[in-house]
Amino acid sequence: MAGRLAGRRAVITGGAGGIGRAIAAAYLREGASVIITDIDGAAAEETAAALSSAGAISAIQCDVTSLADTRALATEANNRLGGVNVLVNNAGLSGRALITKIEEELIDALLAVNLKGVILCAQAFAQTMYEEGDAVMINMSSQAGKRGWPELSVYGATKAGVLGMNRALAVELAPRVRVNAICPGYISDVGMAWRGWEARSNIEGGTAGDIGENFAAENIPLQRLQSADDIANTAVFLASDEAREITGDAINVGGGVVMD
Ligand SMILES: NC(=O)c1ccc[n+]([C@@H]2O[C@H](COP(=O)([O-])OP(=O)(O)OC[C@H]3O[C@@H](n4cnc5c(N)ncnc54)[C@H](O)[C@@H]3O)[C@@H](O)[C@H]2O)c1
Repeated sequence: MAGRLAGRRAVITGGAGGIGRAIAAAYLREGASVIITDIDGAAAEETAAALSSAGAISAIQCDVTSLADTRALATEANNRLGGVNVLVNNAGLSGRALITKIEEELIDALLAVNLKGVILCAQAFAQTMYEEGDAVMINMSSQAGKRGWPELSVYGATKAGVLGMNRALAVELAPRVRVNAICPGYISDVGMAWRGWEARSNIEGGTAGDIGENFAAENIPLQRLQSADDIANTAVFLASDEAREITGDAINVGGGVVMD
């Protein structure tokens, strides 16, 4: 049986990380051809090798903050796949600090990866995706791009910036490219939020799992954390024909933390 993403040729940035890997696995399951790209080229190669029994997947090293890298990525990915019709701008950096304490280096890094990196990748692929038509761009934002959390002012600013680009590109690239964002909540099992709880558990004691679950019980209407697969399932939906009338949107997958 053909999968929901048969005929889709997808590039996933940050594909060696928690959510990116889950999206790659889900895309393969649904019949897409996939290239994962990451600044950590060895990790991207390992991830592609680990998922290769599920379908056509390969890796390309790319720093999304580099104009030269993103252009080379687009050229190589278009050559390998015979055109790219799904781009998932997922690469990201976390960083928590009070506004009075955050170092300039971290401010620059967050802006570079989470905002400039998304813009450069969108720019690198926009023309060929527009020419091909029936293409899909998915930009990974966050609940922190829509509501405030302490110590996430700069991270939140980058994720709100992604939503601004998302809306503008949805108009600019219509009707040939649908452009949507996903705003994940807090992921329970892998990725940056999980590593944050692990770091807290090393300082405060208790397990990372308990810290996350307590947070969920106090802050999330559905009283649970999300999984990377919850985000991947939404990324499958947005890349599929089932979402053919959705563009310029930003879907919350956060258990009700944000309702808009
Ligand atoms: N995990 C969460 O709870 C959560 C919540 C909301 C939003 N998000 C967003 O989801 C996306 C994925 O997050 P994750 O939890 O899987 O994080 P992760 O750290 O596990 O994965 C991020 C990946 O991006 C890569 N990367 C970092 N800088 C890069 C660069 N300059 N060029 C290319 N690749 C680079 C990393 O090497 C890593 O593999 C991010 O955009 C993040 O902001 C995550």
